[in-house]
Amino acid sequence: MKTVVIRNGEEHQFVAVAELPAPELLNPEQVLIKVLCVGLDGTDREIVTDNFGMLPQGEDHMIIGHELLGVVEQAGVRSGLIAGDLVTALVRRSCKDMSCSNCRSDRSDFCETGTYIERGIKEADGYLCEYVVEDAKYVVKVPKECAPYGVLVEPQSIVEKVWNQVELIQQRMIWQPKTALILGSGPLGILVAMTCRVLGMETYVWSKSDPQSLNADIIRRIGGHYRQAGDVSGASDKHVGSAAADKGADRFFTGLTAYAAELNLRFDMIWECSGYPPLGYESVPLLNNNGVLALLGVTTGTGRLDIPGDLLHQEMVMRNKCVIGSVNASRRDFITGIDRLRTIEQLYPGMLDLLFSKRIAIEAVPDLDFSAIAIKAVVDVVPPEQWNAMLNVLPD
Ligand code: BGC
Ligand code: ZN
Repeated sequence: MKTVVIRNGEEHQFVAVAELPAPELLNPEQVLIKVLCVGLDGTDREIVTDNFGMLPQGEDHMIIGHELLGVVEQAGVRSGLIAGDLVTALVRRSCKDMSCSNCRSDRSDFCETGTYIERGIKEADGYLCEYVVEDAKYVVKVPKECAPYGVLVEPQSIVEKVWNQVELIQQRMIWQPKTALILGSGPLGILVAMTCRVLGMETYVWSKSDPQSLNADIIRRIGGHYRQAGDVSGASDKHVGSAAADKGADRFFTGLTAYAAELNLRFDMIWECSGYPPLGYESVPLLNNNGVLALLGVTTGTGRLDIPGDLLHQEMVMRNKCVIGSVNASRRDFITGIDRLRTIEQLYPGMLDLLFSKRIAIEAVPDLDFSAIAIKAVVDVVPPEQWNAMLNVLPD
């Protein structure tokens, strides 16, 4: 079968199309999935451009891709699925350490050892190929009506995991979030913005993209507010709250603080989706009392930052602020993700489809310029016009 792999090169890993044997069912709990399409995200970009991927031990290649949409071609008798089911799959697999309570309880997204495996990212083949075999416990059924945007279930699961944690944390009080700020307007930032709108929040997005870009347009069309980073009238760092007092922290301000001052707002929740660390730290004073900052953006950098430590400490202690980091997602996040995407599609019809700014075939992946992707690239392993004929005609 056709696959897209990374291989170790002399200095850098590189991407190639490779012909490899198709996998086969090994036991009755498994399913053989025909891959329809695979989404690419920032992690794939890091893998392709920055050696973020980790090859399986003893192998000289790894199939990449972790955002799967496929159709069950052959179902093991104990899989609970049938041929024709539309499916996606979890990314992470548990570590082997018996002392890791979370992995032992199917919550490898909270693995304690860090020795987990991730399909297409860390030590296991991913989904960017024609056929995948997987244990049914890692496969999630997707309603057929969601086929056009089903490849977004995995990235949406990342958003759902954060929201679920925030709801748990905020049970510490009566919390009625009204305002959200999202940093970054890539696919994740846009999905977060859509989610915040569905949750009824006034939604602000601050990002590098041009105000005329498709990203900014989507934000406005779902009723959000978009502002280009750096584009703040008289960006003189007139800070909200006590941040103004800290003269030593000049280099720490990106203009985000001035934007909040201009809006005369603080936010109940801030989602950092850009992976640019200064923004996360600058955000803490911009939270409302009792607010939560969630860090989702991945960075592989080694940069250092001069931060106003006392200010951040005071802000968090005296105002009950909370910062959480979050990675990966569990099966339940995939399920709520499917529900959320359906609601988004109902409330904002056609907007999810706008995320797919680039659709390519497998052969085109090695030449893909990640920096030129407006929002999201999807690799169509089967052309979308052929999908319907492959899905089971029985209703879900
Ligand atoms: C994936 C996660 C994964 C993370 C870090 C993200 O792109 O969605 O499932 O845990 O990368 O490898
Ligand atoms: Zn573990």
